[in-house]
Amino acid sequence: MRIKEILASGRSETEAIGTKVVVQGWVRTRRDSKEFSFLEVNDGSCLANLQVIAERGLAEFEANVLEAHTGSAVRIGGLLTESPGKGQSVELRAETFELVGRCDPDTYPLQKKRHSNEFLRTIAHLRPRTNTFGAVFRVRSALSFAIHQFFNERGFLYLHTPIIAGQDCEGAGELFRVTTLPLESPPRMAAATGAAGAVDYTQDFFGTETHLTVSGQLQAEPFACAMTDVYTFGPTFRAENSNTPRHLAEFWMVEPEMAFCDLQQDASLAEDFLRYLIRHVLKHCEEDMAFFDKWIANGIIESLQKVADAAFERITYTEAVAALERSGKQFEFPVAWGADLQTEHERYLTDDYIGRPVFVTNYPKEIKAFYMRLDEGERTVAAMDLLVPRLGEIIGGSQREEREDVLLRRLAELQMEADKLWWYLDIRRFGSVPHAGFGLGFERMLMYLTGVSNIRDSIPFPRTPGNAEF
Ligand code: 4AD
Ligand code: MG
Repeated sequence: MRIKEILASGRSETEAIGTKVVVQGWVRTRRDSKEFSFLEVNDGSCLANLQVIAERGLAEFEANVLEAHTGSAVRIGGLLTESPGKGQSVELRAETFELVGRCDPDTYPLQKKRHSNEFLRTIAHLRPRTNTFGAVFRVRSALSFAIHQFFNERGFLYLHTPIIAGQDCEGAGELFRVTTLPLESPPRMAAATGAAGAVDYTQDFFGTETHLTVSGQLQAEPFACAMTDVYTFGPTFRAENSNTPRHLAEFWMVEPEMAFCDLQQDASLAEDFLRYLIRHVLKHCEEDMAFFDKWIANGIIESLQKVADAAFERITYTEAVAALERSGKQFEFPVAWGADLQTEHERYLTDDYIGRPVFVTNYPKEIKAFYMRLDEGERTVAAMDLLVPRLGEIIGGSQREEREDVLLRRLAELQMEADKLWWYLDIRRFGSVPHAGFGLGFERMLMYLTGVSNIRDSIPFPRTPGNAEF
């Protein structure tokens, strides 16, 4: 039986008490007295450990129980009884005790009660055995499920977009190349081609330059323009050399894309989505959330509850810049219309100026991607970023440019090769519709929900510059 089932709130204790069970898990602590050993066993199904009492009279007590050090794997059979100790209502009286896997107390690194998250990153293969990371990864799993449930309830089609991509969706150039060409001597273009000396990717595996995807959006758009409402949820890759607590080189993104949808409707969906996810996690991960509230971020449950209950604000980029200029604050990066908002600016806007989540919309076209719809006046585009307190940007989205002539003009301005995007342009030629979508950074959402302050602690094995050991 999983420990969660045994300890589950709602399950009447009298029902659990008196039943015989077999429990399998890992020893968190053991304490020995003259007649008994007391063990705390955890199997990852929930935060709480099951208390086990093993009497000295048990068969092979010394070889099994007294060798079951912290970290050991054990299988214990016995009777669930009422616990006289406080904190737990039920305990397991061992009748059989099997030491399944030994754990050397002199070399096992998880001995102390609390380790720093920095240290635990160096043993990422063992950290799911700690309270903090057990809780983070249970919430991660619950959150994935909630994402699918949200879209499924609304009739969205779940779409798998490719991991290997031929286009740079965001145009930021932060790409991981995918190739089978030999690094030391790749084939080169002949002089006659006018690109003499450049690597000849026509001889590469796919016959063209490819890289790991930075976003599934470009491939989601054609599906939205056929199936109406779709979403992708998968890994994305960015070779940005930014060692910040909010950036990963490999992260997961949720990207809905909707036909017959404009920017305001897009923002409304994002708002419903975020509030749904918060409510889901508060409801289904109660024990883990209480742990975060107590040990990681005091008051996080109450503040998330407030966010789930109140409408988000919407302001334009122009209003945001004006507010920043009026703030009288000294920012590291100067504020000026036309410059991108930095995290410090985003944090001021959402934490101080608005005091809750806020959509900033209609950014200058120069700082946003080619596919965003040009606004009237042609200075700004129909973009939106959702900023949340404690974090800054959590969602980036936009209404897409659905007018073929305007998109062609934009591509020319940006000196992008329109012929490579022929299929993307086709969508504007054949039954084009206003459409919009957004991308939620899955790990940022986890940071927001759990309060962990470094994104490396929200993904099982983080990929960051200089880091891909596990
Ligand atoms: O704002 P971004 O770059 O938007 C897109 O990629 C669009 N194509 C999405 C769309 O409209 N379908 O990324 C979306 C979100 C960001 O708001 C952020 O939460 C997250 O993805 N993100 C990252 N998360 C972790 N590490 C990184 N390096 C990230 N870069 C973006
Ligand atoms: Mg963005």
